[in-house]
Amino acid sequence: MESKKAFAVAFSLQILSLVSSLDRSQFPPHFLFGTATSSFQIEGAYLEGNKGLSNWDVFSHIYGHINDGSNADIADDHYHRYLEDIELMHSLGVNAYRFSISWSRILPRGRFGDVNPVGVAFYNSLIDALVSKGIQPFVTLNHFDVPHELEVRYGAWLSPEIKKDFAYFAEVCFREFGDRVKFWTTFNEPNLMIKFGYIIGRYPPGRCSKPFGNCGLGNSSLEPYIVAHNILLSHAITVGIYRSKYQAKQGGSIGIVISTIWYEPLTNTTADHLAAQRARSFENAWFLDPLFFGDYPSEMREILASSLPTFTSEEKKLLQNKLDFIGINHYMALYVKDCMFSSCALDGYNGNALVFATGERNGIPIGEQTGMPRAYVVPDGIEKAVTYMKQRYNNTPMYITENGYAQQINSSITVNKLIDDVERAKYIHDYLASLSSAIREGADVRGYFVWSLMDNFEWLFGYTLRFGLHYVDFKTQERIPKLSARWYKNFLEGSNLRTNWDFNLQEDSSTY
Ligand SMILES: *[C@@H]1O[C@H](CO)[C@@H](O)[C@H](O)[C@H]1NC(C)=O
Ligand SMILES: *[C@@H]1O[C@H](CO)[C@@H](O)[C@H](O)[C@H]1NC(C)=O
Ligand SMILES: *[C@@H]1O[C@H](CO)[C@@H](O)[C@H](O)[C@H]1NC(C)=O
Repeated sequence: MESKKAFAVAFSLQILSLVSSLDRSQFPPHFLFGTATSSFQIEGAYLEGNKGLSNWDVFSHIYGHINDGSNADIADDHYHRYLEDIELMHSLGVNAYRFSISWSRILPRGRFGDVNPVGVAFYNSLIDALVSKGIQPFVTLNHFDVPHELEVRYGAWLSPEIKKDFAYFAEVCFREFGDRVKFWTTFNEPNLMIKFGYIIGRYPPGRCSKPFGNCGLGNSSLEPYIVAHNILLSHAITVGIYRSKYQAKQGGSIGIVISTIWYEPLTNTTADHLAAQRARSFENAWFLDPLFFGDYPSEMREILASSLPTFTSEEKKLLQNKLDFIGINHYMALYVKDCMFSSCALDGYNGNALVFATGERNGIPIGEQTGMPRAYVVPDGIEKAVTYMKQRYNNTPMYITENGYAQQINSSITVNKLIDDVERAKYIHDYLASLSSAIREGADVRGYFVWSLMDNFEWLFGYTLRFGLHYVDFKTQERIPKLSARWYKNFLEGSNLRTNWDFNLQEDSSTY
């Protein structure tokens, strides 16, 4: 069994290496290659070390919110195992690690209570251990989780009050960690968080209205734009603070991370081409245009009219040029059909742009289906997304802050099958090849992070979607490198894929 399996793995890797000329040397010399995680998804220890409750702690504890009925109280127990996890990264040979700071661990009650020294000490230890291994910390300040107290006091992102809290939190982090952290991002995927939290109501605070969802509270065509407005201003204020008080001394840079699906027109009509442009504007330019040019894209103003808040002239000045780099999370591509000139069903994710997005054209999927709903493998999408950003934003430096492949688990899938993840290795290989082509054409891309270092708590999906380069047995917390981890390590070492390969896969056919 062992040798047959090893042979199969060796064979798939040979195919990968034979069809490929992908090599680390095709990327710029100081390119960051890393893995990514977020605090809520891996840390666990949800009430340890004086941590306060976050909105996600409270939300995930309510029955029915998480598909498998699970929560992240323990997750990967990373809070206690961070040194072991840094060893995993060190063994991969990455030179950067993207992680987020739990706001409620640093400020259990937001600005209405004290800074928690235990939380600060945890991130100091994590950062010191990374730096000692030559791994650059690449820090996200907000990856969906907010102190629950801020939700209760004033509705968190729905209130302009949040600007004071976010800037206060960010400044604590710059002060405490900025001597060693050279890469900051304010927000992770605010565009996606808003769609899930305020349009379809499946993320906290679970607000929405018909036809996009049935939540009881909320307004899917109004609140998303209020929330985005407050997030954009929070970002701009925070970057202002970093630039005026910390950047010169600490020498870092600061950006934001946007979820970027690549939208292709479903048909070759002008209407569908315009629809694809609109879908990109409503998803990416919604956040990026204000931070470069000081206002929302015109397509949004035309459709949303007075539901889209306006910036005062001072706010426009505050917003302009507030990014040192763009963080791009990219997984997938979809087709887009126009719903402005012809009627069609509006889905919650894209409906406000008057488009309908689908993974199929004439019954043929846009790419191979992964374990995540609507996520298809379309490697060219990353080149197109990066080129779009390059053209629209004057080739501002970019980092691919997430890219990865989901495995969906079920009762019959074996641990071995999950570890033998040829599909993921091939996915990363193909996306890196497409990215390198964008770089050859001049795109200023400076880093790439695989989502994720290890299997973890995947929001709504609980533990049923696995994105890790490392398999995690959530009963024992054992981490096992998957084939993709071995592939990534080999790629980073720059060695020939057909040699130096350790086929020490575990012969364990127990089911998940
Ligand atoms: C949402 O807000 C808009 C604009 O104020 C309003 O016209 C609409 O009736 C509201 N919808 C709901 C469900 O409250
Ligand atoms: C789409 O239409 C344009 C302009 O009419 C044409 O040049 C192009 O070849 C068409 N593309 C496809 C894939 O049909
Ligand atoms: C379980 O997942 C595997 C791999 O994705 C798939 O081939 C199989 O059909 C699934 N089985 C069930 C019972 O859903």
